[in-house]
Amino acid sequence: MGKVAVSMSMSLDGFVTGPHDSRKNPLGEGGEVLHHWLGPTSTPADQAVLQEMVDGAGVILMGRRSYDICVGDGGWGDGGPAGQVPCFVLTHNPPAEAPDVFTFVTDGIESAIAQAQAVAGDRVVGLHGATAAQQALAVGLLDEIQVHLVPVLLGGGVRLFDLLGADPVNLERDRVVEAGSGVTHLRYRVIR
Ligand SMILES: NC(=O)c1ccc[n+]([C@@H]2O[C@H](COP(=O)([O-])OP(=O)(O)OC[C@H]3O[C@@H](n4cnc5c(N)ncnc54)[C@H](OP(=O)(O)O)[C@@H]3O)[C@@H](O)[C@H]2O)c1
Repeated sequence: MGKVAVSMSMSLDGFVTGPHDSRKNPLGEGGEVLHHWLGPTSTPADQAVLQEMVDGAGVILMGRRSYDICVGDGGWGDGGPAGQVPCFVLTHNPPAEAPDVFTFVTDGIESAIAQAQAVAGDRVVGLHGATAAQQALAVGLLDEIQVHLVPVLLGGGVRLFDLLGADPVNLERDRVVEAGSGVTHLRYRVIR
């Protein structure tokens, strides 16, 4: 079975968006800098990290806010964040219509991960948005955390590691890639 991993661009103060993320401004105020390593400032080291993620992705699992903000003309067209890679969306209220690549799950994170792994096979279930990662950690189903640490302090927005339980989560650092773009790609195994 493939691993469950989160891979997100994060500011040094822990935000994966700036303040007021919305369909018009998916990464919030000032947050677009979080993804510059994927475009304008990308170096061969950044591209290698990205290619590894693209090659490994079996299913993307996300929360409904990510879907609402980014689907269609929000930036993804008729696909998801990785084109036609299947996407599962956690939600309380599935939409009446959606592009074919999306499957909506209403019975919680454990069910969503089980369904995603069944489709992904040996490939990675990649978590997208902050709440899926937090819930996967809480139920002991997250294997890996990859943070693309961007040298900016955003001061507000969506925190990647909000709403964790009281117990510490121990990690083992697995890899550090210092890209010439200024981004540090950090990868950790979750110790369980
Ligand atoms: N920096 C990066 O690399 C990066 C990457 C990806 C996304 N993002 C950004 O992250 C933001 C979204 O992240 P987010 O953490 O705010 O929201 P999210 O995780 O995408 O969505 C949260 C929503 O998902 C639904 N949900 C989550 N868990 C559920 C469960 N167990 N059962 C039923 N429904 C559940 C709920 O919506 P309902 O109750 O409405 O159904 C909840 O309000 C977006 O702005 C996106 O652009 C950044």
